[in-house]
Amino acid sequence: MSRTLKTLTAAAASCMLSAAFFDAHADEGMWLPSLISQRIEDMQTKGFRLTAEDIYSINSASLKDAVVLFGRGCTGELISDEGLLLTNHHCGYSQIQKHSSVEHDYLRDGFWAMTRDEELPNEGLTVSFLERMEDVTDAVLQGYSHEMTESQRDSVVKANSGKLVEKATAGGNGLRATVEALYYGNQYFLFLYREYSDVRLVGAPPSSIGKFGGDTDNWMWPRHTGDFSIFRIYADRDNNPAPYSEENVPYRPKRHFRISLGGVEEGNFTFVYGFPGRTQEYLMSEGVRYISEVSDPHRIALRTMRLDIQKKYMDAGQAVRIQYSSKNAGVANSWKKWQGEVKGIRKMGTVGKKQEYEKAFMEWARGTEYEGVVERLDSLYGLLEPYSYATDYYGETAYSIELVRFALGYNKKLTESMLSSSTDRIAELRKEMKKMAADFYKDYFIPIDRESFVAVMEAFDRNVTDDFKPEYFKESLTRYGTMEAWADSLWNSSVFADSLKLKKATDSLRLLSLSEDPAVKFGDAFDDWYKKEIRPVTKRINSEITLLNRDYMRGQMEFSPDRVFYPDANLTLRVAYGSVQGYSPADGIYYKPVSTLEGIMEKDNPEIFDYNIPQRLREIHAAKDYGPYTVTDSKGNITVPVCFIATNHTSGGNSGSPVINADGDLIGINFDRVWEGTMSDIVFDPDLCRNISLDIRYVLFIIDKVAGAGHLLEEMDFVSER
Ligand code: ARG
Ligand code: GLU
Repeated sequence: MSRTLKTLTAAAASCMLSAAFFDAHADEGMWLPSLISQRIEDMQTKGFRLTAEDIYSINSASLKDAVVLFGRGCTGELISDEGLLLTNHHCGYSQIQKHSSVEHDYLRDGFWAMTRDEELPNEGLTVSFLERMEDVTDAVLQGYSHEMTESQRDSVVKANSGKLVEKATAGGNGLRATVEALYYGNQYFLFLYREYSDVRLVGAPPSSIGKFGGDTDNWMWPRHTGDFSIFRIYADRDNNPAPYSEENVPYRPKRHFRISLGGVEEGNFTFVYGFPGRTQEYLMSEGVRYISEVSDPHRIALRTMRLDIQKKYMDAGQAVRIQYSSKNAGVANSWKKWQGEVKGIRKMGTVGKKQEYEKAFMEWARGTEYEGVVERLDSLYGLLEPYSYATDYYGETAYSIELVRFALGYNKKLTESMLSSSTDRIAELRKEMKKMAADFYKDYFIPIDRESFVAVMEAFDRNVTDDFKPEYFKESLTRYGTMEAWADSLWNSSVFADSLKLKKATDSLRLLSLSEDPAVKFGDAFDDWYKKEIRPVTKRINSEITLLNRDYMRGQMEFSPDRVFYPDANLTLRVAYGSVQGYSPADGIYYKPVSTLEGIMEKDNPEIFDYNIPQRLREIHAAKDYGPYTVTDSKGNITVPVCFIATNHTSGGNSGSPVINADGDLIGINFDRVWEGTMSDIVFDPDLCRNISLDIRYVLFIIDKVAGAGHLLEEMDFVSER
């Protein structure tokens, strides 16, 4: 056993002994399912009634077999033995949108397949089941010696990982494997997935339910969003992955969730099983300071400019509102999250606390192999900062111009088609270009893009120092005099600003490419600058940081043997557990942990797009026709439960994750976190960090009572009577 592993195991063992000691923070953490035996005692103390084997087993069906990575950034769960799958509405959003047209606006009106024949295939959508995960640290580091540089080490890791992946996937179709670093490369795990690609849309509520509250309520509690959609996985006759075919049959999962109608109360045990994407819990103070004091505030300011411009035009007209709704949601989502994150980090004094901790660590490290690690990290972060800053600015300014992104993507295909000698390939590329152009122009409104260009590029000029600007940028700006003049020239002379001009240019076969087009030139110049002057430096410094972080991580485990260390999220399957809890966002306020239909009725407003509920829901409320999906609220009224919050440590990627009760039954679908707790990707505050889940009873209520798709309930298994 390698030294690293011994340390990690020792840390894991001591965390079991000291679980009680860490009680205050015990709900923090996203745990590896294969190592859940190290946490199971704590889980059971808190109410969980199943075993580690029930959560994860490679010998028999376990809960993990009912959880999937949905696409490449969400989670989903199986709820029938015929492949029925639940995820969020916002996770299925682009699929729902692709099937929508003016005649069938499934985004607006919802969609329900009343028979299996009506379920809609989705090209490009996959779901992945985790077959198994396994510690491969020794195999990955075979041939590595401590004298090697970080880049030599990288090569060893890559080569060994490649072999492991090849070996693991040799056996069958649909197998996909990855090797992932944990604890900054102190440990490596192989993850083997079985990936299904025939996944069909079964149902989605109208956006007035699935996206109720829109961006106004996003990241907020109290929440009333019915954020779910339903899909079905199809397989070949042998239950194996197969591309879409009419011959395919519903997939028969090894395991699916039973559904509990028992509901939740404050204090109840909950557990979220899913794929969190990225956290940075062990980042040193300088890294946290950069995010909370520099990067987030600048990115927020830049997005505020774009959002204001979008809003101005979206408010003025229905057509533009539809065109920009999805783009606007994307820009607004992180924008709002970052604001909560900055506030949370400042409130917790994380930078100062980490500085103190680092000081203590440095003293302890004197004379050990960890001496100097923190000091060197600190100076590397100093070197990195201007490059990170330039990268952030590039990402939120030049890179965000729609015209430019489109021009670059299109021109790449055009160039390839001009150089290709295969008529098939050319035809394929032509088709792709046509589709690309149609998609782009359908949702493109020049005034928004043009005004955003002026606003964000002026900010780039103001806030980035001259030595971090591309020469091209400086020269052009001097030539044009003002950003306005530059924008005029771009949108007047680029063929990409005009679909007809672009079509003509594409059809004139003399062209080799549109590389001289001003939009392409703008994009190329920035891309070039970034690739040549910024990225190589960030890459080099970051690889030194990774190397030191690996030591720092190990050092921290030795320095604080009683502290519990869980690996940062990296889109691999994790278990987070906690309990249903309200919270106090500010002095004098306490938020209760459950919301109900009464709150939807309070927010209902036909005048406001985000709060205009379907008439059917109003009628059901008036008639109190709730079926079995009810709770009695604190005033004694019978109503329908909608959402609840709990202390589970989740992150982006956990959207759509099953929320499970003490008996392993499904009680909800995770879809968000509360705004005051969004710093949990960096630092977790048990008083403020809450995940937001949809109550499964609201999901069933919508399917049954609002959508009239009660036939779907027939294939689900329920625990309590309904
Ligand atoms: N905040 C949630 C997440 O991070 C939901 C985002 C989708 N909803 C929205 N209104 N933009 O993905
Ligand atoms: N909505 C997020 C997602 O799409 C989950 C919320 C979070 O970041 O916790 O993954």
